[in-house]
Amino acid sequence: MGAGLDDVVAALRAASSVFVLTGSGISAESGLPTFRGVGGLWRTHRVEELASPEGFARDPSLVWTWYNERKAAHHRAKPNAGHTALAALEDLIVDFTLATQNVDSLHRRAGSRNVLELHGSLHEARCTQRAARRPFSDDGLPMSEIEHGCGGRFRPDIVWFGEPLPHAAWTAARDAAARADVILVVGTSAVVYPAAALATHYNRRAFVAEINPEATAISDSVACVLRGTAAELLPRLVGGLQAARAR
Ligand code: OAD
Repeated sequence: MGAGLDDVVAALRAASSVFVLTGSGISAESGLPTFRGVGGLWRTHRVEELASPEGFARDPSLVWTWYNERKAAHHRAKPNAGHTALAALEDLIVDFTLATQNVDSLHRRAGSRNVLELHGSLHEARCTQRAARRPFSDDGLPMSEIEHGCGGRFRPDIVWFGEPLPHAAWTAARDAAARADVILVVGTSAVVYPAAALATHYNRRAFVAEINPEATAISDSVACVLRGTAAELLPRLVGGLQAARAR
């Protein structure tokens, strides 16, 4: 029989270093859609139009309309029990790092502190030509303010397909994955690289557990698969660890 929830609790109890990689599935129970599953954003939207530098160059208004809507949805959403459990786990582990592919800021809003946003966050816009940056509010960036004035345009400060990850966040995440005793992979299909590599490529020693209601690209390569949702399973894991520590 494969490893189960109790084995993950035992591994966490013995761990001094834990690395967590999350994807859009952790925010599903906050009401935000994932990308590839049923109802996923990439089922009804064209990724190359909305999440690539070429798509932005072709139609900046379309891209901003979409990200403004997503930012408003993020603002309406609340962190769920999965986000909250990870924030609580951080308090129980000496060396804890959470890397997320999400741009919704729900981990920070749940109270997580050591968060690496591998694909950026929807807080700032940056110019396509110069180093200029500007914040934008939960109402989004007005269409009249897309042009920077230098010939460049403001774009969301997030990572699109074909673009490198922010260097500091990536190296910190890779180092944290490499030194971890336990790696939890939550709510990601693990198909988008390089983020997906953090789950299994940099550490052959760690106990890796996947938390996901569906099979993914890494399900066959990890020590433990917990089939269920983040908001259901993460509180049980953290509650189990707290109970084990109290004994
Ligand atoms: P995907 O849509 O590829 O995968 C979401 C995963 O979440 C799937 O494996 C689902 O089974 C799982 N899931 C759904 N509901 C869940 C729940 N309640 N609890 C736990 N898991 C659940 O999304 P990501 O892996 O995040 O990048 O996608 C990675 C990147 O691809 C995104 O950051 C984005 C996207 O294109 C860019 O836009 C650059």
